[in-house]
Amino acid sequence: VTKMPTRATCEVWLATLDQLRPDHLRVLDSVEADRLPRFTRPADAARCALGAVVLRLVAGHYLNTDPGAIVIDRTCPQCGLAHGKPSVAGGPEVSVAHSGDLVVVAVTAAGPVGVDVESVTGRPRAQVVRALSGDPRTDADLDIRDLLTYWTRRETVTKATGEGLDIARRDVVVSAPADPARLIDWSGRITPNCALVDLELPSEYVGCVAVLTSVPVDVRVCSALRLLTTAALVIAPVPIGASPLSRGAGLL
Ligand SMILES: CC(C)(COP(=O)(O)OP(=O)(O)OC[C@H]1O[C@@H](n2cnc3c(N)ncnc32)[C@H](O)[C@@H]1OP(=O)(O)O)[C@@H](O)C(=O)NCCC(=O)NCCS
Ligand SMILES: [Zn+2]
Repeated sequence: VTKMPTRATCEVWLATLDQLRPDHLRVLDSVEADRLPRFTRPADAARCALGAVVLRLVAGHYLNTDPGAIVIDRTCPQCGLAHGKPSVAGGPEVSVAHSGDLVVVAVTAAGPVGVDVESVTGRPRAQVVRALSGDPRTDADLDIRDLLTYWTRRETVTKATGEGLDIARRDVVVSAPADPARLIDWSGRITPNCALVDLELPSEYVGCVAVLTSVPVDVRVCSALRLLTTAALVIAPVPIGASPLSRGAGLL
């Protein structure tokens, strides 16, 4: 008799932009490397690069394989371009988010996962309020942390399903910031079984993770620094000029 699991686990790996080094870029595939020169702002290129690097390191850690050899599909179901939710061939469910200096990668075997983080200091308040328009909680005096808590709770759900922003987000109803994170309703469709957990992050960030599963999920937040500094990754130094970042945004 197979016992059904009563709880599941999800790990959320954190990294910061200062931890990115040129030799990390060697693990990227050509799709990932080719995206970087298109960013005009170096910090955007660095967030994108570090997200892809940490995703590979974490997936390699789970699969016990060379991070550079892992096949990651980013095909957008709508247009076929490689800008959709990443999926690791033969691997666990994953999700990537970045904001400010922080990059997070969520990984679990329990079901499709979505993670989101937002910097509390990084975004003009008015923009967030506008972005949330249509929601009852858009009063101008709402606390920025509350707004972003609500925002990230909703975005994790649509990132878990792989739909991202392009569905009407007001259809996703989550619990109020003061209450435990919970998906309440998704009007117009069958509400998926979804475990929502707010993340314990450095104080200038809020974040949440959603796992599409019917069992409660234990979330462990951990640092990716050990993976980023592991000796196996540091192969030979990248020749000057060979870094995709040095071609485009002038980073590193
Ligand atoms: C996914 C999305 C919500 C991310 O919003 P964001 O706040 O800018 O960025 P986040 O830090 O939360 O997440 C970014 C990561 O989400 C992942 N992602 C991209 N599309 C995704 C999707 N549809 N579902 C789940 N995750 C997605 C990627 O890994 C991305 O990181 P990367 O580009 O560095 O690889 C947003 O990009 C989106 O809605 N995209 C789909 C809508 C769209 O424009 N599609 C184009 C149709 S042709
Ligand atoms: Zn697309």
